[in-house]
Amino acid sequence: MKVLILQGSPRANGNTAWMAEEFKNAAEAAGHNVTLVNVSKKKIAGCLACEFCHTKGNGACIQKDDMQELYPLMKEAEVLVLAAPIYYFTLCAQIQAPIQRMYCVNAPAKVKKMALLMSSYSPNVYDGATAEFRDICNFWGVENMGTVTAKINEQKTEETKQKVLEMVKRL
Ligand SMILES: Cc1cc2nc3c(=O)[nH]c(=O)nc-3n(C[C@H](O)[C@H](O)[C@H](O)COP(=O)(O)O)c2cc1C
Repeated sequence: MKVLILQGSPRANGNTAWMAEEFKNAAEAAGHNVTLVNVSKKKIAGCLACEFCHTKGNGACIQKDDMQELYPLMKEAEVLVLAAPIYYFTLCAQIQAPIQRMYCVNAPAKVKKMALLMSSYSPNVYDGATAEFRDICNFWGVENMGTVTAKINEQKTEETKQKVLEMVKRL
């Protein structure tokens, strides 16, 4: 399957980047076609709610930023994986922005499954992000493959890696 991983952490050696890389390596080893994008390095603004896309734009966003690189990848992806640290009890802004910029096409055309990888300092901080993810899956009509979470004492552990690998097996 065509797998697109959006990795939102600006910390190159952090747990989120590590989980995204583990997912990528395992999915490629299983024969999937994987693209990993570090969206924290991209300039992706929030949606302007100008409705250009739903009127004159005919599905195209008026903002010509790095989201233009992502739209073709989103269009072809069959599996979408979001990898995000928890910032203030929700997904980091670097992941929220590209998701909300999908407003112009309403839903990614071919995505059938979505998965969420999250990292945090504290335990019990995933409810908001998990609920948002569940609702987006429902809104887009895609299978929710679930989440792998890793708080501070679970980061880069073999146990966390195994959870990521189990998820990859369900692709
Ligand atoms: C702006 C900001 C907000 C944060 N908010 C939370 C939070 O609400 N709850 C929490 O447990 N950790 C919070 N953290 C800590 C990160 O979630 C945690 O360090 C995470 O492991 C970072 O993952 P990374 O190293 O892969 O980027 C926050 C960190 C930053 C920089």
